[in-house]
Amino acid sequence: MTAPAGEVLVLFGITGDLARKMILPALYRLTARGELSVPIIGVARSVRDRATLDKHIASAVQDAVPDADRAALEAFSARVQLVAGDYGDPDTFRRLAAAVHSAAGSDPFGVYYLAVPPDLFGAVVDNLAAAGLTGRGRLVVEKPFGHDLASARALNARIRRHVDEDQLFRVDHYLGKEPVEDLLVLRFANTLLEPLWNRTWVRGIEITMAEAFDVADRGSFYDAVGTVRDVVQNHLLQVLAYLTMEPPVSDDADAQRDGRGHLLQAVRTVDPAQAVFGRYDGYLDTPGVAPDSTTETFVALTLHIDNWRWADVPIRVRAGKCLPTTALEVVVELQQPPRRLFVDAAGGAPGPNLVRLRVQPDAGLTFELLAKEPGPGDRTAPLPVSVDFRSVLGEMHAPYERIFADAIAGDPTHFARMDTLEEAWRIVGPVLDERTEPPLTYPRGSWGPDVAAARLGWHAPLG
Ligand code: BG6
Repeated sequence: MTAPAGEVLVLFGITGDLARKMILPALYRLTARGELSVPIIGVARSVRDRATLDKHIASAVQDAVPDADRAALEAFSARVQLVAGDYGDPDTFRRLAAAVHSAAGSDPFGVYYLAVPPDLFGAVVDNLAAAGLTGRGRLVVEKPFGHDLASARALNARIRRHVDEDQLFRVDHYLGKEPVEDLLVLRFANTLLEPLWNRTWVRGIEITMAEAFDVADRGSFYDAVGTVRDVVQNHLLQVLAYLTMEPPVSDDADAQRDGRGHLLQAVRTVDPAQAVFGRYDGYLDTPGVAPDSTTETFVALTLHIDNWRWADVPIRVRAGKCLPTTALEVVVELQQPPRRLFVDAAGGAPGPNLVRLRVQPDAGLTFELLAKEPGPGDRTAPLPVSVDFRSVLGEMHAPYERIFADAIAGDPTHFARMDTLEEAWRIVGPVLDERTEPPLTYPRGSWGPDVAAARLGWHAPLG
């Protein structure tokens, strides 16, 4: 059954940081391309007047899209209506209901996007329901969805009192990234990779999400969360699922979501002994960070997938702030040939073939092969065969453009289903609960505590 398309978009948190950095530029681009035509209503606590909202929209769009067309920007801003008020106040929702009806008719199908702090999700949904807005509507909820398995289940139960599962879209913006989805396309649209993509040919997998910047002005948010909750439980486990899941049985949204869910079911709960936590030098001086904080800004851990395809293949994952670069890269190390016939330039054993899948900043693919070194003898030389996707395929759409387009169209493929989220919380549970030691300090600009590489056996530097 096709889901109804949204007839009005309501954005809670239109003046927040996420809206400024990501959502408003995405909505502008969709509108400018003619792909978004429904009325938009922004709900805000901090901005009460039209002129301030217009200024906020203009500066958000111009910061992200410096060549934004002035007329298109003004037209976009004029289409956004403002409902100002507190999210806990039923009167805000009565006024919102009136705005929804006047913008889109007596009983429109509404898309309600909650870009607000998670402690407000429950109240917003309760008040939407009390105002009669959830019956015909879709709720789109930003991350984090819960703080652990129990709180995720409690939040889900609270929201599900008012809406069915198919009305609830949980955002993980990594699911909206084209290079993440491309992992599935590269694997299953080609026959070159898939025959190798299993324990027979793959020796190990490394996934690195490095960020060169610190937590900046997000100290109080980050200190309550840490790296595992911020990017591993959600973004990196979804990347892992795309990288290692079985082929979906069809192109149906739930077939893809089933595939990701089954994969995460097979991921072993992380053993805290196989995790190293770090904190960059100076983190404790960040405004909003508790002086006795034990929050990690770096984690390296080893995952195992207990299924037929991946048994015994170690999957090393590391993520952190203040690392040497900003990039997300997957390195797949293949087994060595069964007999060594050649040596490398130094007379030693040649290195393994690597498949590097770069997700960001520039999506690309490198096969690290070996070829004959020119000259006498049979020595090997590394031969990186590399392609940058943008130079061949052109610009990709930003994740929030896809998230909003899909939320309005009603396509749930790139949203997280509750079963997958529960598995993800289960996988990281013990490293959240059972850590007693404070994280190890590492210098800014390094690859985390030295012990991370040494103990977990990191192999490949980023390409
Ligand atoms: C967010 C995290 O979900 O993802 C941030 O809260 C992180 O801490 C960000 O920096 C990374 O997203 P992207 O799209 O820039 O890789």
